[in-house]
Amino acid sequence: MKIAVAKGDGIGPEIMEAVLNIFKANQIDLDYSFVDMGKWVFDKGFSNGMTPEAQATIEELGILFKGPMETPKGKGVKSVNVTARKTWNTYANKRVFQTLHGVDTVFSKAGIPIDITIVRENIEDTYGGIEHMLTHDVALSRRFITRPGSMQVIRYAFEMARKKGARRITCGHKANIMKLTDGLFLDCFYEVAKEYTDLKADDKIVDDLAMQLVVRPDQFDVVVMTNLQGDIISDLCAGLVGGLGFAPSANIGDHISIFEAVHGTAPDIAGKNIANPTALLLSGLAMLRHLGFRENAATIENALLYTLEQGVHTGDFGDRSKPSVNTTQFADAIIANFGKQPAQGAKPTLANEPETLAVCRLEQNAMMVSTEEGEEKIVGVDFFIESSEQPEAIAKRCLLHGGTKFKLLNISNRGTQVWPTGSKYTNLVNQYNLRFEGLADESLTQQDIIGLYVTLSADFKICSLELLNMWGGKKAYSLAQGQ
Ligand code: NAI
Repeated sequence: MKIAVAKGDGIGPEIMEAVLNIFKANQIDLDYSFVDMGKWVFDKGFSNGMTPEAQATIEELGILFKGPMETPKGKGVKSVNVTARKTWNTYANKRVFQTLHGVDTVFSKAGIPIDITIVRENIEDTYGGIEHMLTHDVALSRRFITRPGSMQVIRYAFEMARKKGARRITCGHKANIMKLTDGLFLDCFYEVAKEYTDLKADDKIVDDLAMQLVVRPDQFDVVVMTNLQGDIISDLCAGLVGGLGFAPSANIGDHISIFEAVHGTAPDIAGKNIANPTALLLSGLAMLRHLGFRENAATIENALLYTLEQGVHTGDFGDRSKPSVNTTQFADAIIANFGKQPAQGAKPTLANEPETLAVCRLEQNAMMVSTEEGEEKIVGVDFFIESSEQPEAIAKRCLLHGGTKFKLLNISNRGTQVWPTGSKYTNLVNQYNLRFEGLADESLTQQDIIGLYVTLSADFKICSLELLNMWGGKKAYSLAQGQ
């Protein structure tokens, strides 16, 4: 069996070498095809951070084991990590956080065990990175939450929870505020839950979830979340079990899967051979199990747990009164402990059942469409315009433009209604939303909207527009605050 390996940037090559040495010492029957990805590939002029050969190899082999890769902050190139996850539709990001003996935390000292799996949607949300400056003062990010994308990851989470023997699965969300986006994700969660009556399915608003995770982490089992919220909450969970050095992650797709640590390139300690390789090793063990190398995975994991119990530690954790070891020495200690059983309970050594990776060749992109229901009708339009005038002045000019088809319903600024009613205490920015409604009962046409666009554009700079749809008698848009 052959997999693709990308060593990554910063501490990536050091921790990858340590992990592959452990695999080699355990005589795992795996071949590696090393691929070119990361910051240095950007620097060579490949704008997506990987060479075409790397992409072809990964698509052929179906498994990528990767070290962390650097993303320049702010303007410029996109994260190669996110590009890889999105390009290959690795829609479920599974992150496991467990108490480890030898890794002291406030919870381990208090005897509170932690075993939480976060399943984070991995493709959508603000990670689409679809952003525009609407005016010099106003940036807009488009946050896509889709029904097929949500169903895909939520189904994975339920299936995984059942296999894990979980008692509870929780959806973390902010549907009280983001009623359409997070509301859609939450609806999908309860739709899928109906098929898994053996699991206790419930939901928590993300801020409450964050607080409860810190106060009583042992009450949670599997938590499924949208992308950004899941990213933040999973780093919080990493903190509960001893930090980023112990947080593995698997990006699971139907055709290609990527295994990597949660942490980044740790530029502050790169090149010193002092990084903790545990998170990458745990990610590698998840990969081995995914590939059917169950016996090897258990032997290595038991050796790792035994090593941690012995108090062997790198500089980022453990008993500071005892000297720390470097990355290579840590890996060697694990190798020396093959065959040992940890006191905290050994992982069962099931026989290997290596999978034949049935990488399926795709001829075209898969289109995921859910069934549409009910009558569709365009009932209005939101025009986002640039203006530094007061709302009343804008309304006065707009009222001339509605013609016989439209009336100006309201004006909002940053989502808060400022006309026809509002408050003088609402601060304004130079970007308004003018909401026009159709006057007649029948659906508006796109030509009607273009007609209004043309007349309005004589008076205002239009930054963008959105149609106001009614689907099956329900509004497919949100109301302004105070509307
Ligand atoms: P980071 O995770 O690299 O570092 C945060 C802190 O944790 C640092 O103090 C670092 O020394 C420490 N740390 C991280 N991993 C460690 C390990 N294995 N052993 C010991 N200490 C460790 O996060 P940061 O500094 O925000 O990001 C650095 C770069 O990594 C950025 O370019 C970022 O975009 C990239 N990154 C890449 C990821 C990936 O490849 N999946 C994930 C997160 C960040």
